[in-house]
Amino acid sequence: MTRKTSARDRLVAGRAEFRDALLAWYRAARRPLPWRESTSAYGTVVSEFMLQQTRVATVLTYFGRWMSALPDFAALAAAPEATVLKLWEGLGYYSRARNLHRLAKSVAPAPELPRSSGGWRELPGVGPYTAAAIASIAFGEASACVDGNVVRILARLTRDGTAYRDSASASRAFSPLAQELVNPGAPGDHNQAMMELGATVCLRRRPSCLICPVRGFCAAAKAGDPEAYPRLEPRRIERRSVVRVWCERRGAVLLHRNAPGARRLADLHELPTAQQAGLDPASASTGPLVARRSRGITRFRIVESIHSARHPGGRLGPGLVWVRLGDLDSIALSGPHRRWMTQILSARNA
Ligand code: ADE
Repeated sequence: MTRKTSARDRLVAGRAEFRDALLAWYRAARRPLPWRESTSAYGTVVSEFMLQQTRVATVLTYFGRWMSALPDFAALAAAPEATVLKLWEGLGYYSRARNLHRLAKSVAPAPELPRSSGGWRELPGVGPYTAAAIASIAFGEASACVDGNVVRILARLTRDGTAYRDSASASRAFSPLAQELVNPGAPGDHNQAMMELGATVCLRRRPSCLICPVRGFCAAAKAGDPEAYPRLEPRRIERRSVVRVWCERRGAVLLHRNAPGARRLADLHELPTAQQAGLDPASASTGPLVARRSRGITRFRIVESIHSARHPGGRLGPGLVWVRLGDLDSIALSGPHRRWMTQILSARNA
């Protein structure tokens, strides 16, 4: 029985040429990022944690500061959590910082670091992507990284028509192909070349096919419809609204400090919701509006209204603290809240 050769089969059959073209391009065109220039396993781990869900441009301003303050696993393991969170402040998704801290405490006393992606997977905060990135970049293991960028490249190369429910299921589906393509002679550079291609050439909108080093292997470029891939079912966006309060008294503002064991944003301060402040949201929302901000978190569109309110005084509810306005710089605030508070205070002083 004969079967029509698919774009995927052709790509796998020509994978040696594909790898060479990709690698030659990467070595000539890559951006000189600090974690690429001086490689230590620790630097790789820190950069990969920072790069989870965060863009390269943002990470650039944090990575050098972090490496100067906490240059190795031992220094990180010995650092107080408040120092770790302060260095992470503004990067968001703080569970990454806490997991990285726990990871350092677990590897610092060990005689040697894990070398395989399987070994890294057992450590806190390390999913399949990060494990493959660390094992390939720092230890030369031939494991493929698969994220949204890699899915986009592979879906276009193969002009894959499957409609995926979400990016996680697309990543699972493309893992075997990514693994077949990974370059056993240079797996770290191969993975970073795929990331680089996704970040600079094979863009979601208006990809630069004319300068793409693997254009000759790409079924979608040939057909002229790369933007149609990957096919993902549209996400349903849910709208939420939150009423927060701005309570100020004698030069101090009321903040809520999340519990140390909270799943999200543990130990970080935020402007309290009306409920956290012990106020009724409906009546708090009739108070003077100080600011309204909208942000997207995963599939939620959240509108946060911050209203001026008076705290009735007396004992504070759980997690509530009065923080002097002059002390705001020395506490860990969640990134958006620091931005909002700075905007509110500077608009008032203008
Ligand atoms: N995204 C995740 N890991 C990366 C890396 N090592 N270089 C650039 N972007 C990345």
